[in-house]
Amino acid sequence: MSSTRFLTGITTSGTPHLGNYVGSIRPSVRHSLNPGVESFYFLADYHALIKIDDPARIQRSTLEIAASWLAAGLDPERVIFYRQSDVPEIPELTWFLTCVIGKGVLNRAHAYKAAVDKNTAAGLDPDSDVSAGLFMYPVLMGADILMFNAHKVPVGRDQIQHIEMARDMAHSFNYRYGEHFVPPEAEIEESVATLPGLDGRKMSKSYDNTIPLFATREQLKKLIAGIVTDSSAPGEPKTVEGSALFQIYQAFASSEETEALRKAYADGIAWGDAKQLVFERIDREIGPMREAYEALMKDPAKIEAILLAGAVKARQLATPFMGRLRQAVGLRDLRAQVTDAKAKTAKAAKPVFKQYRESDGKFYFKLVDADGQLLLQSTGFDSPKDAGQTIRLLQTQGGAALAGLADRLQAAEGIQADDIGAALQLFADAD
Ligand code: TRP
Repeated sequence: MSSTRFLTGITTSGTPHLGNYVGSIRPSVRHSLNPGVESFYFLADYHALIKIDDPARIQRSTLEIAASWLAAGLDPERVIFYRQSDVPEIPELTWFLTCVIGKGVLNRAHAYKAAVDKNTAAGLDPDSDVSAGLFMYPVLMGADILMFNAHKVPVGRDQIQHIEMARDMAHSFNYRYGEHFVPPEAEIEESVATLPGLDGRKMSKSYDNTIPLFATREQLKKLIAGIVTDSSAPGEPKTVEGSALFQIYQAFASSEETEALRKAYADGIAWGDAKQLVFERIDREIGPMREAYEALMKDPAKIEAILLAGAVKARQLATPFMGRLRQAVGLRDLRAQVTDAKAKTAKAAKPVFKQYRESDGKFYFKLVDADGQLLLQSTGFDSPKDAGQTIRLLQTQGGAALAGLADRLQAAEGIQADDIGAALQLFADAD
């Protein structure tokens, strides 16, 4: 497998807005045009069930998001473009991952924690109105990514934790069953700012401050006219800092155009004129796509056919891979000879202890897995002998030694004691 695999999904829970376009649809379409990448684009409709219990809305959103991606230039011949629920291997993999991820890791997921904090603040039961689906959200997302062994997942900052959890699941599974998964990486597009909405907060369905991507020209103009500004009069200089209008413009304009507006702000452009400029600039980019979008929305059969063809391509990868994973975990044909593949694969992935001295004069070590991923970090020891003894303790006693050494050792971010125990077990197996 030589090319880099990119994967991105959009939850089918609403109508795409300019924030989705700038933050996800546009960069993903641009990305798909690069040579040497293999990309996966999907409609996360299983994820939508977590938030939405209105079937018509899910169907409509799926159609709208698919049409938006296609109208924005996604070429289903070049990429694998599919609907999550057309790939039954994904929920199956979700279960496998459910069984290797710690519940405690999921307790710390931002979305779940936010719901719990809100309930607690309101004096309610912490889990009041929290579905198990919300709790499991990161596992389903991990399955989306690991199903295709995507290397890079372009996401916003709010999703980084989910990618870390997917890495965690990949490591945990690999420790138990051998090297099946590539730990994915989040790709943060620094140039892609989060777009502010009409009220200046992040553009988001939940704030009800969005501008639909394919609003008509008239609606677009009206909505842009409604973006909050301060009360400075025409002729008064205006500041670009904190101006939602300026930030939205910047997301569409070239750097020269942006500089020109910056100057116009300083020169006291009237808000009405600035809004007209922003409207025309956005419509210049969106206008041609709007026609393609409207034509696609009138032809749902075409979109359905494109998605089903995409699912065939996706399953050409997912079905055989899932077969290997079933084999690995022991869901097997009973006629096959019982083998203990676990011990064999595990040996290949033996981690190493690395000892070193820091500028503070103290002696340290760390435990690094076969992929170079940091698992465990020690604090400073006064002598190399002390460090060495601690290493031997870990090698001989394995995970059982961890509790007694808690003040000397720290697990790497996203690594659980279980993973470290499994890694240490490999030293015992090897002897
Ligand atoms: N959680 C993402 C969102 O709401 C959607 C999503 C689901 C996703 N599965 C994914 C994104 C896998 C990237 C990779 O925006």
